Amino acid sequence: MPATITAVTHYFPPDIYKNDYFSKYLDTSDEWIKTRTGISERRFLKEGATSDLIVPAAKQLLEQKGLSPSDIDTIIVSTVTPDHMFPNTAAVVQDKVGMPNAWGFDISAACSGYLFSLRTAASLVESGTSKRVLLCGADKMSSIMDFQDRATAVLFGDGGTATLVEMSDDPNYGILDNILHIDGEGGKYLKQIAGGSFKPASHETVDKREHYIFQDGQNVFKAAVKGMADVSTEIMQRHNLSHDDIAWLVPHQANLRIISATANRMGLSPDKVMINIDKYANTTSATIPSCLSEWKDAGKIKKGDYLVLSSFGAGFTWGAILLRWNMNV
Ligand code: UT7
Repeated sequence: MPATITAVTHYFPPDIYKNDYFSKYLDTSDEWIKTRTGISERRFLKEGATSDLIVPAAKQLLEQKGLSPSDIDTIIVSTVTPDHMFPNTAAVVQDKVGMPNAWGFDISAACSGYLFSLRTAASLVESGTSKRVLLCGADKMSSIMDFQDRATAVLFGDGGTATLVEMSDDPNYGILDNILHIDGEGGKYLKQIAGGSFKPASHETVDKREHYIFQDGQNVFKAAVKGMADVSTEIMQRHNLSHDDIAWLVPHQANLRIISATANRMGLSPDKVMINIDKYANTTSATIPSCLSEWKDAGKIKKGDYLVLSSFGAGFTWGAILLRWNMNV
């Protein structure tokens, strides 16, 4: 029996920053940002850490499901902006929500973190190791953004989500298949240069702004279009699914042009693609689950719908998951 998603929630901090926030002090414009990325605004968490983006989503999820914190046996946090290098953010979330029966850990796979974590959560459930996994995809990207670099500052936002992964009650519904990849050759194009054991923090690394996101946008863009489109098409073909059979493509939200090219290559019409990058920008581990949560809340996903979740990010890491929705609206 496959595992499945039985609940998903999201939390975005209340403070909205429109594109004009950046054009007031950087050589950029609302028009450039909208046409090159599809982003109109994003949210930044003024005070607090990544765990503070997760806790409201986790509490909302438990309330929705009528569960007590003690019902969760495993916590996975997918993030590249952990509260600390150690202890892991799963421990912080365990403490803040008060989940006495859980063990847990963090997964770092950048923008593919949610897909890699969803597969991991599903495997824990399918093997019988875990019954209820609370998967928290969240990033406080503002903590590693260089607000003086127009090439990256305009691209990211902060967001938190919670997903409950349990055993499906039907073999035809749930997390049906995955194609996941990693290729370290791409590491040079998108990274946080300093702060790890390779280059510990020093006055020099701070002066050189090496704790912020470094990105060679064009090379990432080209690899992302090919990577996301190819795995999404491959997973459809593997299951003999045509574009008519797919209800939604749920892509990582890094750039509207990447999303459109992916949908195009899959032969999917734009009205079958979940897009919320315009409101939240790239929130890394929170993009795909926040789309699922918003679409679910709006009643736009039906039980039995085939969804293709697709991502590309630093590593390079990329992949697709085929999910047959198993929740009644
Ligand atoms: O989620 C993780 C994975 N990340 C991604 O998938 C991101 C992939 N990359 C991208 O989305 C795009 O490459 C960007 C949005 C980052 C950049 O778009 P682009 O169309 O590739 O632009 P570009 O880097 O080729 O830059 C074009 C021009 C340059 O000026 P010149 O050299 O033509 O004079 C840049 O300096 O645009 C300039 N530019 C800007 N101009 C105004 C770069 N950033 C900005 C800006 N405002 N914010």
